[in-house]
Amino acid sequence: ARTIFSGIQPTGIPHLGNYFGALANWVRLQDAAVPEDKLFFSVVGWHALTLPQDPKALSEARAAMIALILASGVDPRRSIVFHQDEVQNHTELAWILGCMTPLGKLKRMTTWKTRLAVSRNANDESEVDDSLLNAGLFTYPILQAADILAYRATHVPVGDDQQQHLELTRDICEIFNRTYPKPAPLFRLPEIILTPSKRILSLRDPTAKMSKSAVDPNSRILLTDSYDTIAKRIRAAVTDSISGITFDPVNRPGTSNLLTILSACTGETPTALAGRYEGSNHGVLKKDVVEVVEETLRRPRAEFARLREDRAFLLGVARDGAEKAREYSDRTMVEVRKRVGLN
Ligand code: TYM
Repeated sequence: ARTIFSGIQPTGIPHLGNYFGALANWVRLQDAAVPEDKLFFSVVGWHALTLPQDPKALSEARAAMIALILASGVDPRRSIVFHQDEVQNHTELAWILGCMTPLGKLKRMTTWKTRLAVSRNANDESEVDDSLLNAGLFTYPILQAADILAYRATHVPVGDDQQQHLELTRDICEIFNRTYPKPAPLFRLPEIILTPSKRILSLRDPTAKMSKSAVDPNSRILLTDSYDTIAKRIRAAVTDSISGITFDPVNRPGTSNLLTILSACTGETPTALAGRYEGSNHGVLKKDVVEVVEETLRRPRAEFARLREDRAFLLGVARDGAEKAREYSDRTMVEVRKRVGLN
């Protein structure tokens, strides 16, 4: 049987990248699961604190994310949906794993290096100044490893931007098993399930990924966007002046991104789609992308509008989810404490 675990940060309404990179894929895995499989989907509030958050906005986003996960089609009778920050086992395990994680491995994380690059004095490339960055940004991947290992997850579906974090989780898993091998290795090495759809890129700057934090709201499409907003943003998407349509992510990132979005919505490969639009133009392609995106988002958008009014139901799902998550992770923690000598 498989134990599937994944997480998403409660930092606002998910965009198409999060939807295809996570939510839609979770639903696919849920629908393909056999009864013995266990599925855990977590809203990772503690991870969100690594960047400055307005408490009121965070609190709202945190509650909304449960509704968004359900609106995407995750079924709480089938999957355990919960707030990470309601299960203290994650932080306890993160501390224990942190005491076995070499600093060198954390320093190699691209996400950390990107933060460093942003904070570094632009005039002095040699001077890397990490003194003002918070420690949580640095230890972030350890908490992520704890999320996964607390459930002894066997499979972790993520987008490719999370691959390096998952490789670190596997390293930490092996270090723990090697350090405390008796009576048998405690953790199973979690497998990465990379989202089949390619990374969705920004509509304004197709060299960057679509992100919640980009300043230009026209760079992304949110799960709750109206048809008019979708149409406006796709029509304004940056492409290129080459005639015809081809899938060429290196030389035509904007055009290829539209094909990637179309592919994510329809399940056809971007290359096959490109073949179909070969003799066509950007205008026609964009028009079709608008329609399939609208078709894809219509149901989750309506479901979200309905669910967010049902506070009692949402609170119940989160409460039940946390209770079950606690029960499962408690079993792991009893073993962990025994092995390290804190029982
Ligand atoms: P987060 O909240 O940034 O993103 C959630 C998921 O969405 C994927 N994703 C994308 N996929 C395709 N294109 C994009 N533009 C795009 N942007 C985001 C991410 O790969 C991710 O799968 N650290 C994680 C959350 C986390 C987690 C975990 C995940 C915490 N603990 C344990 C798995 C297991 C994060 O920040 O995801």
